[in-house]
Amino acid sequence: MKISDENIEKVKTASDIVEVISGYVNLRQKGQNYFGLCPFHHEKTPSFSVNPAMQIFRCFGCGAGGNVFTFVMKTEGVTFPESVKLLAQQAGILLPEEDVNVEEFREKEALFYANKLAADYFQKSLKTPQANQAREYLASRSLTEQVCEAFDIGYAPDQWDGLIQYSQKYSLKQEILLKAGLLVQKDSGHMYDRFRGRVTFAIRNISGQVVAFGARKIVNDDSPKYINSPETDIYHKRSVLYGLHKSRDAVRREKYALVVEGYTDVISLAKVGVNNTVATSGTALTDDHARLLRRYTPNVVVLYDNDSAGAAAALRGSDILLANGLDVKICMLPPGMDPDEFAREFGRDKVLLYISKAVPLIDFKVRRLNDENIVTARQRAEAVRELVVSVGRVTDSIQQSFLIRDLAEKLQIEEKLLWGELAKHKQSPPVRSTVKQGSEKDNKYFHTKRGAAELGLFQIALIHMENIPEILNVFHPDDFKHPEIRSFFAGLVQSPENRKALQQQYIQRTEDINLAETLAELFFDHEMDNNEKYTHDCILTLKLAQLDEKINEIRKQMLLPPEEQPQKNMEDYLRLLSERRTWEKKEFVPKSKPEEKEL
Ligand code: CTP
Ligand code: MN
Repeated sequence: MKISDENIEKVKTASDIVEVISGYVNLRQKGQNYFGLCPFHHEKTPSFSVNPAMQIFRCFGCGAGGNVFTFVMKTEGVTFPESVKLLAQQAGILLPEEDVNVEEFREKEALFYANKLAADYFQKSLKTPQANQAREYLASRSLTEQVCEAFDIGYAPDQWDGLIQYSQKYSLKQEILLKAGLLVQKDSGHMYDRFRGRVTFAIRNISGQVVAFGARKIVNDDSPKYINSPETDIYHKRSVLYGLHKSRDAVRREKYALVVEGYTDVISLAKVGVNNTVATSGTALTDDHARLLRRYTPNVVVLYDNDSAGAAAALRGSDILLANGLDVKICMLPPGMDPDEFAREFGRDKVLLYISKAVPLIDFKVRRLNDENIVTARQRAEAVRELVVSVGRVTDSIQQSFLIRDLAEKLQIEEKLLWGELAKHKQSPPVRSTVKQGSEKDNKYFHTKRGAAELGLFQIALIHMENIPEILNVFHPDDFKHPEIRSFFAGLVQSPENRKALQQQYIQRTEDINLAETLAELFFDHEMDNNEKYTHDCILTLKLAQLDEKINEIRKQMLLPPEEQPQKNMEDYLRLLSERRTWEKKEFVPKSKPEEKEL
């Protein structure tokens, strides 16, 4: 279904291009523009720039460019309407066209609301007398009131229906609380608070909305240490990273992300000033987590407890990160310590020192291979094979070949042998979404004489507006074949006073990826020395192309038997030929002579 102009406009306004691109690229401000490494080609020095005033981007290296929608289309491999939907979602805008999804959207909104309400309730409860024990527990872990506020730590009172009662004041249905996973339903149908009697850690999505909770027990009984929200329509464990919404700026700044296991690890590290940390929430690392991280940085340091379970988990997670193209290093803490304890006991400098000693994943594995008592040839072969398998998961073939070379050297094994082994384990490359970006037809059209002339006139109308009257003297909007160019000129004719707004709209919103790219180029670095001459040439080319089309049409008809030919065919034919001759002879006459300008 077509999304209305009004809604596209709404989404555009809500989606600042710098903010959106910052989700993928590390941007640095220089003058009026922002610069970063281009996500569309490999480069070492930034040639990718974003212009916030025009809301466009452009890469001087590979020529990619466009508006905020084009950017999403290219990075996510989606069509124009899908890019609008994605951005709408991020901005929390409901697109009413999606009739079928209104229900779903409302329900999701309700789930967000329920979680927000619960977060408020837990935070407030932490300040009440019944939270004495919880506060003592938190204090014993140096989680002060301030820290609790800053990190959304709360307390779910030890009551069956505390949240239910609280939410009644806000007329939120129990059914929604249940769907949000905040309540548990007994077989009898009775509902009660899932997290009662525990301290709560709010889990936020990348937009900062609370989507779930992790809740830790504060007494030493044999109940599970943590209880987490179940999967809901707004919470998918596999794609949420605890802390990322807060740490993403630091991740970009530090140029790497620290991956830890627990909520308290993230918090304690942040407390000592190490802010670029994320954790999974009670689940193993997934491909989705890796892809999410990759938006912010290509580098990850995995910081895990130094026990065998911790190391095993670290290695499993690291393989997934590696497979998704991330550069992974492993940092092992002193035995028996997790990052939370380490940060609290030793502070920032020591943490950073440890991190600086992190070793690349493959080295780490090789080291383990050497440390462990792997002596027999068979054991060794098995271990090497395992290593090769994890290299085999790397999708970037250049990175892979570096890893193999590295491995061969470290293990003192012939590279060829490792390649042979790798071939046996090679996974088929992951399927990438390959939505056609922009229509090829449009691209070809701009390469025809006529298409190029249309595009040229469009460009002139956008940046040398003084030439618009001359264009409109010759052409009617319908003379333009490209739909967006046609509607642009139609808009100009309809309300000439709005041309500035129209200009902005076309630059920032065009649906045609090729057009967007051309426009971005135009507004970033195009200088037209002689736009009057250019205007003349484009007008002439387009006019002649048009006349030729008409002439050819009549020529075809003239082949029909006389009785089937339109009446004034010959007359028209002669008129068109003469018109063509007149146009052909038109020479460019500068409006203002250069010498006059100099005076
Ligand atoms: N976890 C869980 N359920 C458990 C135990 C752990 O979901 N029963 C998850 C939690 O997300 C926790 C993470 O696994 O943060 C790491 O577990 P662990 O290292 O045991 O917890 P810590 O974060 O160290 O918790 P604490 O320091 O509070 O003991
Ligand atoms: Mn811990």
